[in-house]
Amino acid sequence: MYPDFCLFQDILTKEIIGRGTKREGLYFVPLDVSYDERGIKINGRSKIIISGSIHYPRSTPEMWGDLIRKAKEGGLNAIETYVFWNAHEPLYRQYDFEGNKDLVRFIKTIQDAGLYAILRIGPYVCAEWNYGGFPVWLHNLPGIEMRTNNTVYQNEMKTFVTVIVDMMKRHNLFAIQGGPIIVAQIENEYGNVEWAYGNNGKSYMNWCAQLALSYGVDVPWIMCQQNDAPSPLINTCNGWYCDQFSPNNPKSPKWWTENWSGWFKDWGMKDPHRTAEDLAFAVARFFQYGGSLQNYYMYHGGTNFGRTAGGPYIATSYDYDAPLDEYGNLNQPKWGHLKRLHELIMSMEEILTHGVKRDVDYGNMMSGTVYMYDGKQICFLGNANSNQDFTVNLMGNNYTVPAWSVSILPDCYTEVYNTAKVNTQQSLMVKLPNEADDQTEPYELTWDWRPEHPEHLHDGLAKGSVMTVNKLLDQKTVTNDTSDYLWYLTSLDLSKNDSLVGKKITLHVHTNGHIVHAFVNGKHVGSQWGSSDHLEFIMEKDIKLKLGKTNTISLLSVTVGLQNYGANFDTTKVGIHGPVKLIGNKGQSDEVTKDLSTNPWTYKVGLNGMEVKGLQLDNARHQHGWKSYNLPSNRLFIWYKTTFKAPLGSDPVVVDLQGLGKGVAWVNGHNIGRFWPSYVAGEDGCTTTCDYRGAYNSNKCLTNCGQPSQRWYHIPRSFLEDDGNKLVLFEEFGGTPLHVRFQTVTAGTICATTDEGKKLELSCQGRRVMSEIRFASFGEPTGACGSYARGSCEAPNTLSVIQKQCLGQESCTLDVSENTFGPTGCHQNVYRLAIEATCDSP
Ligand code: GAL
Repeated sequence: MYPDFCLFQDILTKEIIGRGTKREGLYFVPLDVSYDERGIKINGRSKIIISGSIHYPRSTPEMWGDLIRKAKEGGLNAIETYVFWNAHEPLYRQYDFEGNKDLVRFIKTIQDAGLYAILRIGPYVCAEWNYGGFPVWLHNLPGIEMRTNNTVYQNEMKTFVTVIVDMMKRHNLFAIQGGPIIVAQIENEYGNVEWAYGNNGKSYMNWCAQLALSYGVDVPWIMCQQNDAPSPLINTCNGWYCDQFSPNNPKSPKWWTENWSGWFKDWGMKDPHRTAEDLAFAVARFFQYGGSLQNYYMYHGGTNFGRTAGGPYIATSYDYDAPLDEYGNLNQPKWGHLKRLHELIMSMEEILTHGVKRDVDYGNMMSGTVYMYDGKQICFLGNANSNQDFTVNLMGNNYTVPAWSVSILPDCYTEVYNTAKVNTQQSLMVKLPNEADDQTEPYELTWDWRPEHPEHLHDGLAKGSVMTVNKLLDQKTVTNDTSDYLWYLTSLDLSKNDSLVGKKITLHVHTNGHIVHAFVNGKHVGSQWGSSDHLEFIMEKDIKLKLGKTNTISLLSVTVGLQNYGANFDTTKVGIHGPVKLIGNKGQSDEVTKDLSTNPWTYKVGLNGMEVKGLQLDNARHQHGWKSYNLPSNRLFIWYKTTFKAPLGSDPVVVDLQGLGKGVAWVNGHNIGRFWPSYVAGEDGCTTTCDYRGAYNSNKCLTNCGQPSQRWYHIPRSFLEDDGNKLVLFEEFGGTPLHVRFQTVTAGTICATTDEGKKLELSCQGRRVMSEIRFASFGEPTGACGSYARGSCEAPNTLSVIQKQCLGQESCTLDVSENTFGPTGCHQNVYRLAIEATCDSP
């Protein structure tokens, strides 16, 4: 049937005899290295690295241990993180390594778990992180040009990278010192934009490589997406698939630094999903085709707390549909399906890293690969056809490989894993009410509120302003990015003979983003915002001016995360660059225009309410001005606050901010991020069924159409006290806090379909237990979670056996076989168990 079949057969029968040669260069990954007392390498051993990205500032130190433990249990042997320059050096030479910025503690937590670490220093990182990780003060240094041959920039970059490398050295964290760091990265995806910097780009890239090597820390240094990386720097691959990648230097191993486990979300976007089947397919193909290190980006995405979200317009949740969800729960079946794959690949490590590899192309995108070493053999059968299943005969046995899947036969005989056959449980997560609050319906939190008064000039002055100049300035230049909010204030006297008098007046504001609120003489006249593909926009509003008097114009420009990607992304304009004009009788023959762009503009950074230290608001002095009556709804610029009890137990906590517009939220003084539930995702493009077959992209398998792009906001447990927790909201657009709820996230329903011969682990993932088995059938059940149906035959004891083993338990393990459930009377090759159970409080 297939011309190449004989070749494969030959390989298996003949070449298997005799030892393969150790794969040097391309495949040899000498990572498990130890050193004798003279510092001489001994015992280098090839490794397979299966790693996952967990960014330390996107969770809290209290979560790290649990996340890393779950990563290890999920079959990873390494954790990767970027280093976030602007988090560590928010102001020039003022460093911060406290709390969730405690990089040393994070790396030590990885080490304590017995895992390796991959440190991507950058210091440009992209990462949907504010300004790609650059501090904004850097942009404001005279003479600077970023990411190119520029001494001002290079000195700063070198200073920061040196701070990090020295810190790691001081704590003995590099592998050569017995630490966990086995790989480090300099720059990030510079190859994608190098063209834009001409010859300077090339020499900058070489300078980066030399800088990295100058530290002498004896780890392989990588530069991802850099296909001119100078040896010994290793060019690595980023993307949804990297099986066809080969590094530019033939001596480099084939490494994949970013296997995108899903995708990130902008405000106004739907929820992206990448299936477990497709992700496993990509990983299996990578190892089939000779890869030796792969890293999930992200393994735990987490949360963009505070003002760390990049963008513009990146949402606060950075869930990424990763194997661990935003809150640290297992995202099942993804986590479990990959765990099985990881364990299998690791069990084949020696043969994969030392074996001889042969590929066979069957045509029609069907391929086979065999690795042979020391009398042992492993086989991969890969089908990259997106709709046709194929049957292959291997040594006299037929194997059907479903479309878009890889089968792994660790002895070239038994199919132990197929990427499209998911045998792990699926968990449907639910949000539960806060039991600690003893609320009776209707649920009521008690709210206090206070207005944020719009700024305006009094006699040409504004309290706390930073400067007055006769031009419109870039927002980040003025704020140094210490706040999202910048007031642009001006005034004008309208004399009786002004050409505008007697005409209909339009205020015209041209802004480079991201949101603008306009007030004339203290009265709100309009608000407008852009989107991730339309940053720049014009707002035009009809206004009234006072004749013969001074009129004040106050524009509040708001940023929603600074640009983090692209050639020269750092110079992207933001804020009101103008023109700002008054137009009389717009569009009519007597139209007149008064350009205010070169008026004296006074700048004031931030909001008055934010000056309250830490927003804890428990100090009597700060009670001033708060009212508990006449709670306003749908009014912009309102501060709200309430107190609540911490939900019982240990499940992750979220606050549901449905009903609010847009703003910022603090819990006990911790900024939990920007909120924007009024930004609703478009109606079209969602699907309830998701076909894993065919190449994934971020528009495939979307959910959440027509819903707020983010309604729930994570409150890490460590931000909470048992009693008397304070939530403070700044509402910028107008909304109501009356629907705000505190909830916990946990598994509500768990489902699984598992083939005979496998072990099924069912778990409620937390404090809860299986309270009801809603469906169970071992035989030929059909359907999906929520709609399972029995087939024509089944083992009659299935339900009672499962009830006995699992009811009342947090977790249970089932041996899926006729031994456990009794004879099915079916005549298929392989039987399946389908089960659906409810998790409830014990
Ligand atoms: C890559 C980049 C990452 C991240 C990712 C998308 O290009 O290196 O930092 O931004 O895209 O999530």
